Amino acid sequence: MLDKIQSLIDEVKALQAKTAEDAESLRIKYLSKKGAISALFDDFKQVAPEMKKEVGMRLNELKTVATEKINSLKESFAEQQNGATGADLSLPGTSYVCGGRHPLSVVKNDIIEIFGRLGFTVAEGPEVEDDYHVFTALNFPLEHPARDMQDTFFINTNPDILLRTHTSSVQVRVMEKQKPPIRAVFPGRVFRNEAISARAHCIFHQVEGLYVAKNVSFADLKQTLLYFAKEMFGPDTQIRLRPSYFPFTEPSAEMDVSCSLCGGKGCSVCKGTGWLEILGCGMVDPAVLEANGIDSKEYSGFAFGMGVERIAMLRYQVKDIRLFFENDVRFLQQFKSAY
Ligand code: DAH
Repeated sequence: MLDKIQSLIDEVKALQAKTAEDAESLRIKYLSKKGAISALFDDFKQVAPEMKKEVGMRLNELKTVATEKINSLKESFAEQQNGATGADLSLPGTSYVCGGRHPLSVVKNDIIEIFGRLGFTVAEGPEVEDDYHVFTALNFPLEHPARDMQDTFFINTNPDILLRTHTSSVQVRVMEKQKPPIRAVFPGRVFRNEAISARAHCIFHQVEGLYVAKNVSFADLKQTLLYFAKEMFGPDTQIRLRPSYFPFTEPSAEMDVSCSLCGGKGCSVCKGTGWLEILGCGMVDPAVLEANGIDSKEYSGFAFGMGVERIAMLRYQVKDIRLFFENDVRFLQQFKSAY
């Protein structure tokens, strides 16, 4: 009996199957009720009592070896049928819906990146500000109309706490903390109490720039902005600076770029002028430097501020500013390839 068990163990260990059906017939041959191993269990009744212990152990070993071997043969066929992962590789794949950056983020990042190449770092400040950082430290006279209730959103009717109307407030926050040289851009959201239309919104985005160091001149300002305009709108872009007024810069200017659509000939976008206004700029008023503890005899600087929506509208030919805030996927999907 022991010899028979041993030879069956050897036999079972060497079993092979070519198909799943082969494996199943092996199971029937060895493990079913009428199989070879069950027959041995029947014979076990006749084994002499003193041999029962050893024969019983060997029989159980045979059964375990056979069960494991035949199961592993069967599993190998199941795997082959379903591929190694058990997945049906012939099924069509699931495609992922890819998102894209919001056009305002694309344009804002481009602006930051262009100035980054000139050594400008990035800083941010709070959207809920106080009067001092938005107006007073920037040389706004007390009676200046920008402080008017019609332009500014105040918090809880406390006239000292408000939503910033421009990112120029971050200039103040940076000058408070940092000694010159300062060379940074400040992107962010701004808020104005304006009627919403195709051209204006009560929330929009600006990027402010500030450069304060020794011997900074208007020529530096002009060269920096010319570089920016060419990088943003193309190498043939020209700029024009028109005298203007801002309380925090002296002299101040507004900058136009040549219309990239008509190349300056005049079209509906530039309203026949060939020029598009894109930003305000100027030399930092010495009073602003002094208000922020910077010696205006030793240092000078320039600043500029631009609207991100305005630049995005020009670049992508968007005719209505409200589209940037509605988050209609049909609009946003058109910018998927922009990066
Ligand atoms: N803060 C101005 C605005 O909101 C834009 C601006 C103009 C920023 C001139 C500047 C500047 O830094 O020098 O319209």
